[in-house]
Amino acid sequence: MTAPVLQHERDAHEGIYIRCEDLFKIHKIADLEVVALRGLDLKVRHGEFMAIVGASGSGKSTLLNILAGLDTPSAGRAYVGGQDLLGLSRAEMVEYRRNKVGFVWQQTSRNLVPYLSAIQNVEVPMLLSGVSKTAARERAQELLEAVHLEHRLHHKPGQLSGGEQQRTSIAVALANNPPLLLADEPTGELDSVAATDVFDLFGQLNRRYGVTIVIVTHDPDIAAKVDRVVAIRDGRTSVEIFRRIRKDGNDVDVTHDEFVLVDGAGRLQVPRELLEQLSIRDRARVMLGDGRLEILPERNRREDH
Ligand SMILES: Nc1ncnc2c1ncn2[C@@H]1O[C@H](COP(=O)(O)OP(=O)(O)OP(=O)(O)O)[C@@H](O)[C@H]1O
Ligand SMILES: [Mg+2]
Repeated sequence: MTAPVLQHERDAHEGIYIRCEDLFKIHKIADLEVVALRGLDLKVRHGEFMAIVGASGSGKSTLLNILAGLDTPSAGRAYVGGQDLLGLSRAEMVEYRRNKVGFVWQQTSRNLVPYLSAIQNVEVPMLLSGVSKTAARERAQELLEAVHLEHRLHHKPGQLSGGEQQRTSIAVALANNPPLLLADEPTGELDSVAATDVFDLFGQLNRRYGVTIVIVTHDPDIAAKVDRVVAIRDGRTSVEIFRRIRKDGNDVDVTHDEFVLVDGAGRLQVPRELLEQLSIRDRARVMLGDGRLEILPERNRREDH
């Protein structure tokens, strides 16, 4: 008998870095329960640069906090880099947060220590991990160069623009060279020019360091800036958009392919506009057509007889 292949070995073989399966998160406030994630499935490839979008309250931050090890799911499975996030001990979780993941928040003030200079901010996570002062200084300098802030090393956050503060925050998040970078609306407080710069920077860092990047954003043009966009609706992944780049001589043609996601139980979310067009509410008929599935409104049921 051959030994069973473990899920994380299969994932590593297939280049999958994040796997969430049937993830649930229920927030409890007093007697009230809010279901923030309801059976969410998500796979992210190693080295991918992807974004998560969705209406306010759809569960985006909840998902990111779970992947960052800042929150625990109520049920389901979440693997990052072969580690089962639900099975980590307290000590393993501290190690995970320190070395396996970098995080950038929307509020610039939450990312940086106000009385430390940019370079000192980047050094902090390394010094906490036991890196020597000299090595930390050298890497902090390299990272601030990578985010194009070599001329702002000794400025304090209050002396930097919003975009510069977020670029410093990205350098801080990458200090311990984590394989995964998570950002929750990192451009939410920036104007569109600074926001475009920050997205370009994420792309450069993704290519330069091979770091897997997941960004939550409300940017309407995000699909043109990342490899893949996944939309979350009501606590579940619903739609996925891939960017396709075709180079024809000097012409670069960017198109997008959109898919509806189907989960392990065969569930999918049909876009609400389509359901409304056919007045489909709580019941529909699904039939196999020629190489396709057809979803018909209920009234056809009676017409059949
Ligand atoms: N700590 C908490 N306690 C109670 N309910 C919470 C908590 N955090 C989130 N929720 C609820 O869970 C749901 C999902 O919240 P979440 O913050 O993940 O949404 P989001 O998609 O990030 O929204 P936004 O775009 O506004 O940031 C919401 O209904 C929210 O009110
Ligand atoms: Mg949020």
